[in-house]
This record gives sequence, structure tokens and C-alpha cells, in this order.
Amino acid sequence: MSEGISQPDQPQALEGEGKDLFSKFDDVIALREGLLSSGQEDPFNLVMEKVLSPTRAICNGRDTILLGTYNYMGMTFDPDVVEAGKQALSDFGTGTTGSRVLNGTYQGHKEVEQALMDYYEMDHAMVFSTGYQANLGIISTIAGKGDYIVLDIDSHASIWDGCALGQAEVVPFKHNDIEAMEKRLKRIPEGAGKLVILEGVYSMLGDVAPLKEMVAVAKKYGAMVLVDEAHSMGFIGENGRGVVEDAGVIDDVDFIIGTFSKSVGTVGGFCVSNHPKFEIMRLVCRPYVFTASLPPSVVATACTSIRKLMHGSNKRAHLWENSKALHKGLKDLGFKLGTEEPQSAIIAVIMPDLQQGAAMWEALIQGGLYVNLARPPATPANMTLLRCSLCAEHSEEEVGEILSIFEKAGKQIGII
Ligand SMILES: Cc1ncc(COP(=O)(O)O)c(C=O)c1O
Repeated sequence: MSEGISQPDQPQALEGEGKDLFSKFDDVIALREGLLSSGQEDPFNLVMEKVLSPTRAICNGRDTILLGTYNYMGMTFDPDVVEAGKQALSDFGTGTTGSRVLNGTYQGHKEVEQALMDYYEMDHAMVFSTGYQANLGIISTIAGKGDYIVLDIDSHASIWDGCALGQAEVVPFKHNDIEAMEKRLKRIPEGAGKLVILEGVYSMLGDVAPLKEMVAVAKKYGAMVLVDEAHSMGFIGENGRGVVEDAGVIDDVDFIIGTFSKSVGTVGGFCVSNHPKFEIMRLVCRPYVFTASLPPSVVATACTSIRKLMHGSNKRAHLWENSKALHKGLKDLGFKLGTEEPQSAIIAVIMPDLQQGAAMWEALIQGGLYVNLARPPATPANMTLLRCSLCAEHSEEEVGEILSIFEKAGKQIGII
């Protein structure tokens, strides 16, 4: 190491002794150790010993209500979905052992892509091994060096990673701020390629993007638009197509990204589009080409689940009732929430700090309720959140039970 780049206040490495590449994680290690030193149950290491239903599991030996999964439509134990998976497992085996562009496209992959085209009424659908890879692949492949990506500052990590991989100029704007977005678009040089990236529902606070206005502004400046509907598929919009459907802009967006790991109830990711050249993505998109395709049982469960979600209006209505009841109940108890009104199936309870958030998380889990403890960098504005995500299979009684557990824990920790 030359003198010019050594840090005077850091111990010099002895000759033959390299720098420990893990030293950059020391702050996180200290934070974690500080949190657990008081005997606190580890909120990031919960084990579900048995899963009883979409809304209940045995966690750390306790019967627990699940309020921190993305199982919005409760499809994980749907008998038709489970049966489709079992059938595919016995007919096609456990895995494809190959890429979609070589030996990894089975009948089931084509069927789930057809189900997505039918669901969204779009011309093309491409299935990835995860939603993370769908964002990574689509964003990095369509927006490269010399192009511009204008995106909400609160975008999901997979969107940021897709931007980094593609090396386009990245121009973030303040969360859900239409004017700020327009200002950024105005400054982009004439003739440059432009992609605007938005999410339907932002997963940390559970708030919805003003897509009607934002998509109109993006189009005014000639930008292509990609909307990640990970947290709205199945639930929001008349047919569960997401905020794009609810806002009436589904025909104006160029790409919708989604995942099978939430409302669909399994694992996998996808992009649907009407772009006439879309199919070329199968040959040029590296996170699609250079990885193994999803197992046949997974695509079979996804396909059955998506087709059932098309007819899920009763479940959607019940999920809205749950969301409204939980939001009102928590607000009435005196908790500070991420949104004034319920906007999605996610209700975020804002904690004063990480210590109290972790203590509250522990009181809830000991009371038989699991929620997500979320903290920076995943959360906006350095917030600590107890993120509650509802399921269409939560009964009215369970929502009542959830509120009682919150009340007891909140009083015990002194938050309400
Ligand atoms: C907005 C958003 N996009 C993409 C993903 C990635 O989805 P997957 O779990 O399928 O990788 C997530 C996951 O939480 C998400 O919240």
C-alpha cells in the first residue's frame, strides 16, 4: 500500500498480512451485537418450525399469527395450487438443470408465461428465476451507457442494482414527487434514451404512487416507463393487475415487473410488455440467460395460482376489509402509521428508534404475532418500522386478536 492511500488513524497491516475484507461490516456487526447483548430474541433469525396455514405457524415453539409475510392472497395452501405442484414434481422431476435458452424451457414455463399474458392482456411475458433477477435483467439490458434512468429515491434494492449493472446515468427524484420527476426529465439531453422506473406500491410504508400523473409526465418527455407491481399484483385493481390498472394507465406503460413470491405464493419473477421487439430480451438479457430456470413444480404452482387470481374478487374485497380494520384499530390505539389512510395490504407502524422497535418486535412475537422489523438502509428517512402485511385469509377475529396483541405490547414497552 503506498503512503498516499494509507489511513493514518488505522493500524497498518503487517507485512504479509492482508486487509480483512470483512472490516467494512464492523459497524453492522457492532449494531447487531449491541441489540442481542441484552438477551433480545433475534428479529432477523426467526425460524418457522411448522407452517400451519397462510396465516399461522409455529415459531420458536409458539403458535404465531403471521402478519409479516407477502402472502397477500393466501395462495400457498390453496389445494389446486398444491396439487399442480405435486403433479409437476412427479411428471417432470425436481429441476430443469439448465438455462431457459438451452434445456431449461419445459411446457410449464410456456404455460405460466401464457397465464401472465392472459392475466395482464399483454403480448409478451418473460419469466425469471426471481423478481430480483427480473429487475436486474430488464433494467440493465434496456438502459445502458449513455441512457438515462429517472427513478423514485425509495425504489427497491433490485431496481438500484439493475441500474448499477447497466451503467446508465441514474437520476433519482424525491419519493412520489411529480414535480421533482418532471424537473429531472426536463434536464436530460435531447435524443438520449430515457427510462422512468416507478413502483405501484412502495413496500416499506405501503403507500401508492400517483401513477396517473407520473406516467403522463413520463410520456410527455418521451420516456419509456417500467412499473414494478410486486406488492399490488393480485390485490389492487379491478382484476388484480395492480396500481397501473387502478389508475387506468396499464396501456401506457412499457414494462410491468412482478414476482411470484408475494400474491402468487411461490418464487419467481416476470416482465410483461407489448413492445414489438420484446422477445429479443430472451437472448440478450444476462440474468435470464446465465442462470437455471425455475423448477417444474414452481412454474406449475405459479400458473395455477395466477389463473385463480383472475377470479379473486371476493378475496380482494376481504383483504381490503382487513387492511381498513387493522389501520383504523392501530390508529385508534395511538400508534403512528406510515400512511394516513390504508392504501395497500401493508401497514407500517413507525417506531421511535431501533431499540424500542426491537423491544416491541420481541413483545409481539412473545405474544404470538410475527411482523417484520425493518430498519435502514431498507427503510426511507432512517425509520425503524414494524411492517404488517395482511393476508386475504386473515379472519375478522384474527384481526381483532392482532390488535389486542399490539395493544398489550405497546403498553408494555411504553409506546402507547
Ligand atoms: C418492489 C420489489 N420488487 C422486486 C422484489 C424482488 O422480488 P423476489 O422476492 O421475487 O426476488 C421485491 C421483493 O421484496 C420488491 O419488494
